[in-house]
Amino acid sequence: MSQQLEQVKALIQLRDKARLGGGQKRIDSQHGKGKYTARERITMLLDEGSFEEYDMFVTHRCTNFGMEKNSFLGDGVVTGFGTIEGRLVYVFAQDFTVFGGSLSESFAMKICKVMDQGMKMGAPVIGINDSGGARIQEGVNALAGYAEIFQRNILASGVIPQISAIFGPCAGGAVYSPALTDFNIMTKGTSYMFLTGPKVVKTVTGEDVTQEQLGGASVHASKSGVAHFAVETEEEGIQVIRDLLGYLPQNNLEEAPIIPNSDPIDRLDDSLNDIIPDSPNKPYDMYEVIGSIVDEGKFLEVHKDYATNIIVGFARFNGTSVGIVANQPKVLAGVLDINASRKAARFVRFCDAFNIPLLTLVDVPGFLPGTQQEYGGIILHGAKLLYAYGEATVPKITVTLRKSYGGAYCVMSSKHLRGDINYAWPTAEIAVMGPSGAIEVLYGKEAAKAENPAEFAKEKEDEYRDAFANPYNAAKYGYIDDVIEPRNTRFRIIRSLQQLATKKLVNPPKKHGNLPL
Ligand code: HXC
Repeated sequence: MSQQLEQVKALIQLRDKARLGGGQKRIDSQHGKGKYTARERITMLLDEGSFEEYDMFVTHRCTNFGMEKNSFLGDGVVTGFGTIEGRLVYVFAQDFTVFGGSLSESFAMKICKVMDQGMKMGAPVIGINDSGGARIQEGVNALAGYAEIFQRNILASGVIPQISAIFGPCAGGAVYSPALTDFNIMTKGTSYMFLTGPKVVKTVTGEDVTQEQLGGASVHASKSGVAHFAVETEEEGIQVIRDLLGYLPQNNLEEAPIIPNSDPIDRLDDSLNDIIPDSPNKPYDMYEVIGSIVDEGKFLEVHKDYATNIIVGFARFNGTSVGIVANQPKVLAGVLDINASRKAARFVRFCDAFNIPLLTLVDVPGFLPGTQQEYGGIILHGAKLLYAYGEATVPKITVTLRKSYGGAYCVMSSKHLRGDINYAWPTAEIAVMGPSGAIEVLYGKEAAKAENPAEFAKEKEDEYRDAFANPYNAAKYGYIDDVIEPRNTRFRIIRSLQQLATKKLVNPPKKHGNLPL
């Protein structure tokens, strides 16, 4: 064998060794926990055969605790690039089989390299997390590595999409990298995120809690809102990432891809003409409306189990990717509370950062009153949504289906927040507040003195309804551009999107605004 052939053979052997990560025993243990390895995950994520790996021969440089005798090629993270549906993406996957996927200085630099490449090339970065956190033997160098990643997460925010899959532990300050990215996907039963684990919680607060109760996927998807998607399996999580990217542009200077489909532009849905119940207090399901108007009924919902009184997610209209924000009258009458405001505000800002038009479907009785909300800062959180809509420069289309009361009218992409097209169904009611509240304020004292207070109040409520429980009062002032037939909603939205495709609107130059955090 020639010297060169021998060198090639040695390279192949080294590669094979690197691909084994922490060794077969640890790979088996990973599989035994129902988890895939870093490389298996990348293979599932990317288009077949598209992955090219960087830094396979990187090792750590730590000499503490005899670590110089203990190292693995690649050092616990697999990094590189590939394609998803033919589009370039950068990826890193932490390898739990090497020191529990814990992060060393070299490990962090590998991640930073793909993040820098993603920024230079204007391509999304996807991180798959499964790690014991900072590599304890490395001390401050591991912490420095995290901070280097955080800094890049921050600079990349709003420039390229950043997506985190949490497929194992993610603890300590390590959670802040996913938190800085745009979307977090967690697997139920095998992943968790928390700042301090159950043992420390017990010591500090005395609280007995399991990992799952403290930071499992269900907790973060329904209670904290940290996770945008909770999935049953890693396969499902990978599919969510692939689907999600389909709705997004590669970076903030591009548009999302247009995906042609056969759903007719002018498809009418007669059932929408009869979906609003006669009683204003009876709910209907906003999902039915969304499903009826979007291309092929396909809707990728974000934060499905969190603040369910508002719905956010991606869909297409005539192939164009659109972010939908919709009040859900079926849950708490679609009221805006702290969590709903935060959820929707973050989604609106994401869409605006990435040139994705916004469709807002309004049926909202107002902001939720009461001490719990006030003490929790509903004023600030509600202002976040207001701010998000007000600063957004993407095409903004609003359809008011039924109620639009008070501050919530202003907030939900109203004309006054630079809504481009504001439609209303004939069932819309746009007023300062609902009839009973208004009459109590205006005529409470008179009603008390009246011979028949209930009759008096009803008479006044009817009068109020005649004046405000319709869209024509707002349309009279041009705040509503047109009152449309509900069954025609899809067509009118598509026409609006076509019209707004060349929209140009720039906010005043500034370092950055001061979002009410
Ligand atoms: C070095 C680590 C490690 C770490 C795990 N390992 N975590 N090595 N640094 N942080 C190693 C283990 O020694 C073991 O090595 C292998 O990884 C697998 O770990 P096990 O404990 O056997 O696995 P398991 O039982 O599944 O438990 C996983 C775990 C546990 C829950 C993640 O390992 C754990 O609690 N680790 C410490 C978590 C932690 O507190 N990290 C620091 C967080 S603070 P062998 O050789 O036996 O296979 C932090 C600060 C970040 O990260 C700050 C950023 C600003």
